[in-house]
Formats: sequence, C-alpha cells, structure tokens
Amino acid sequence: MHVTVVGSGYVGTTLAASLADLGHTVTAIDIDEEVVETLNAGAAPIHEPGLEELIAEHAGDRLSATTDYAAIPDSDLTFLAVQTPSTPDGSLDPTALAAATEMAGAALAADVDEPVADGDGTTPTDPVPHPVVVKSTVTPPALATLRGALADGVGGDGSSAGPAIAELATNPEFLREGTAVSDFRDPDKLVFGTDSASALDRLEELYAPLVAETDVPVVRTDPETAMMIKYANNAFLAAKISLVNDLGNACKEFGLDAYEVMDAIGLDDRISERFLRSGVGWGGSCFPKDVDALRAASRTAGYDPALLNAAVEVNDRQPERLLELLDAHVDVANERVAVLGLAFKPGTDDVRNSRAIPVIEGLRERGADVVGYDPVATETMRERFPDLEYAADAAAALADAAAAIVVTDWDEFATLDAEFDAMADPVVIDGRRIVERREGLTYEGLTW
Ligand code: UGA
Repeated sequence: MHVTVVGSGYVGTTLAASLADLGHTVTAIDIDEEVVETLNAGAAPIHEPGLEELIAEHAGDRLSATTDYAAIPDSDLTFLAVQTPSTPDGSLDPTALAAATEMAGAALAADVDEPVADGDGTTPTDPVPHPVVVKSTVTPPALATLRGALADGVGGDGSSAGPAIAELATNPEFLREGTAVSDFRDPDKLVFGTDSASALDRLEELYAPLVAETDVPVVRTDPETAMMIKYANNAFLAAKISLVNDLGNACKEFGLDAYEVMDAIGLDDRISERFLRSGVGWGGSCFPKDVDALRAASRTAGYDPALLNAAVEVNDRQPERLLELLDAHVDVANERVAVLGLAFKPGTDDVRNSRAIPVIEGLRERGADVVGYDPVATETMRERFPDLEYAADAAAALADAAAAIVVTDWDEFATLDAEFDAMADPVVIDGRRIVERREGLTYEGLTW
C-alpha cells in the first residue's frame, strides 16, 4: 500500500520507517524542512535503536519525505502522528493536530476538484473515503474536534461532495521508546478504531504482513473506544508503578527490600512480574502526559479519578524521598554531587519529564554544585539546564564528588567500581537499583 504519515517525531518516524520495512511505500510529511532533508538523506531525526538502519535501507526507495500535504491523495491511507502538547492544567491541546487534520482534508478535497485525465473532472479518484487515522494520543472527547477539523478541511460537512472524501479513524500505538523498532515488529495487540467497513479493511490490509508474521491479536472497535484503550493501558501501567513505589516506600520504612517482595507477588500471574520495579518513578513523554490528560478530560466530563490522582502524587514524591536519603548522609551545600543518568529511562536521549529534572532542582535548592552525566542525553538535557555542568563520562562526574545519585538505570552504572572507589568518601543514593550494595560504599536504595 501507499501510506502517508504526517509528523516525524518519535512515533511518526518509527511508524514510517517500520511500515516501509513491512513492504509499503511511505511518504512522511513534516513542516520542518530540516527533518525532511534528514530523512531523505537516509538519516534518523531522533535517537532510537535500529531506526537509523531502517531509514538508511529504505530512504530514496520505499521511504521518502516532503513538506507538501499534496502527497496525501496519492496514498491509500494517512496517519496523523502530530504532537499534542499539554495545557497548564494537564489537558490536551489538540490545536496542532486539528490543523494537520484540516490540512489533510483540504489536500484530499483539492485532488477531487482536479479534472482527471479521462474523466469529467468530478469523479473522486478514490471510490471509498480516505481513512485519516489518528496515531497521536488524544482523549475520546477530543475526537469530535478532529472530526470537525476534517470536515472543515474537505469543505463544509464532509458529505456535500457526493461520497465522503475522508473519514477519521484511530489506531493507537503502544511502542516504548528505546525499543520502538522491535516493539513495532512484535506487538502484543493491534487496535483498530473505525466507523466504517472500508476504513477497517484498509487497516487490516496495511497490517496483514505483520499479522501473518506474528499472529498478533487484533482489537476492532470504534475510534473513541480505541483511544480509551490506549489511555487505560498507560494509566494502568503508571498506576501499577506508583502502587509498587507506595508499597516500596513502606518497605524502606520497615527496613525491608521491596524487590524481594515484588519478585514474590510477580509470581501471581494476575499481577505479572513486569513493571514492578520501584524507584524514583515514571517519566517520559507518555505516562505523565497521558495520565494528566485523562484526569483532566474525566474532570471535565464530571468524574474526578481518585486513584489516578494518587498515582501522580506518589510519583511526584519519589525524587524528594531520594534527596531525603541523601540528606541523611551528606549536607550537600557547596558540595559537588553527581547525577548519574539524565534520560527518563535507558536507551533514549529523551529527557521529557525525566526524574532527573526534579532531582537536579532539589539539589540546587540545597546549594549543591551539580554535575550531570548521561551516555546519550547530555545535549537534550542541556536545552533544559544550559548552565549545568555536564561530564563526558561517569568517572569525570564522580571525581571530587561528595555523593552520587542514580536516576536512570543505564547498564554501565552497574559496573562502576573503580570510579566510586576514586571518590574520597563514596556515598551512592540509588533510585533504580542498578548499583550493588557493597563494602566501601555508603549505599542507600530508595525502596530497598
Ligand atoms: C510507555 C508505554 O510502556 C508504551 O506502551 C506506550 O506506547 C508509550 O508509553 C506511549 O504512550 O507512547 P515509554 O514511555 O517509552 O512507554 O516507557 P516505559 O518503558 O513504559 O517506561 C516509562 C517510565 O516508567 C520510565 O521512566 C521508566 O523508568 C518507568 N518504569 C518502568 C519504572 O519506574 N518501573 C518499571 O517497572 C517500569
């Protein structure tokens, strides 16, 4: 099939490259010319393992990029993977996504108006409405806004030009940053949210090679329910981690190891062993934003979700608890403190909502001289904290430091031995259980 993907951020770029790899012809559309040039040159605009290789293999062949929405009518289906920023109260701002939706509709309408070579100039080039499939995560009530934008784009109510030109569908994604490329190839489910048999058929056809390869279960439902599945999925996982952190904090107060407790409860397959790692909490572009957007949309609809509110509260408290453990060992005023790990999780340079941000802020409030180190996220964190000192490696961060705080579970932190030993009086406060407790280290684990 020929697919257009509007938006070349984390989700859009992974989707475009992965669909090309699945055998489809993909046109990526982005308003940023630099991103378009990068993609056409066969490079990745973001850091995601395996993505650069896919783009290098397919660029110039099955994968191309443009800034022009006129590419849409030539395709069988369009994905919208445009950013959806949050407003200060946590609710979703669909303005950019609605604008892209409207432009997609307008591009489809413009094509219908063009005379076809041997036709009468009014025949739609496509016998069925073009599915405009929302990949971005938007709350179910916000889909009405996008349907309106699509109708505005095609001109009027979307049904005046004979057969409808376009229709909205949803296909939420469940990829994790850092493993997005392999997750695409091995998903645990596909969710198709459509209002018509024709849109569903196109999504089925698009994913047929993947279904044949993996036998992945397909959930077929309406667009709103599909998006609620996405929110429920992320909210459940975020709340699971917060519950584990709540229990973990209690374990710490009781002098117990939360990991020993969680390893045991994970044996109950109703609980599952996954996402039971307690520590400094969840960050990233998804859990915080999606939980906040769901809470805000629920409140607007008349329901205040108590458990989700508590999940956020527990998450917000974890960085401060980490710092309180440090306070118990060192007065960090005017002392150098190394923050190990700046990315919100390993395998990515993304620092959005990274727990490192409140940790750095808390250290600075205490008057500490903070030095940060991350194997890949230094440049992205520099945008957030331009005046912070960044070390080239862990050894440099730890040299002369009075203490180290571990915020991201990068594998390389598990083997820091000589580097800790080189500290005058090594104090390690671990927020991810990546450093081993041992002789010669003053070591504190957040929940163990
Ligand atoms: C998450 C979901 O896992 C994906 O399914 C979803 O598609 C994605 O959000 C999204 O909505 O786009 P992601 O944010 O990439 O993926 O990262 P996760 O691996 O889920 O980790 C999220 C945060 O939870 C990280 O800060 C991680 O350190 C933390 N975490 C995770 C824990 O603290 N404990 C755990 O046991 C697991």
